[in-house]
Amino acid sequence: MAEDLRVLKDVSREDQYKALLPQIEALTTGESNAIANIGNTMAALKEAFQFFWVGCYFIDNEELVLGPFQGPVACTRIKKGKGVCGAAWEKQTTLIVEDVELFPGHIACSSLSKSEIVLPIFNKKGEIAGVLDVDSEHLAHFSSVDEVYLKKVVELIGSWI
Ligand code: SME
Repeated sequence: MAEDLRVLKDVSREDQYKALLPQIEALTTGESNAIANIGNTMAALKEAFQFFWVGCYFIDNEELVLGPFQGPVACTRIKKGKGVCGAAWEKQTTLIVEDVELFPGHIACSSLSKSEIVLPIFNKKGEIAGVLDVDSEHLAHFSSVDEVYLKKVVELIGSWI
């Protein structure tokens, strides 16, 4: 497929996700390399929503290690239970943080990041393998709409690893 993304303007975020997901599937179908697919998926999310930072961390030797991402340089390693990412890993659940300053132990990779959503990634065996982290420079930028559609994104990622 052509490596051009069709990004809808002036529509709801839900409609943007609905337009984007089939494009991510088309971009990654037929490609077996997980890093390539995850890289393009992060780029597609960043381009469509202009999120401040979007990326994956993967579990490696009892730590989360930075994977493909789009945005400013970020912390490389996060311990289990630490920060929003480490907490989402430990609890194996999605966390939506409206104000990162109110989250105990939040890891500030950038002082510009104000809110975030972190979803666990489960691999093909159903084991926790990492997290998807999306950060915004706006407070309370994420809702259940992001949770619903980003869950579909992490399910896709999980199908590649
Ligand atoms: N804020 C995250 C760390 C990762 S970066 O924001 C990219 C956290 O508290 O886990």
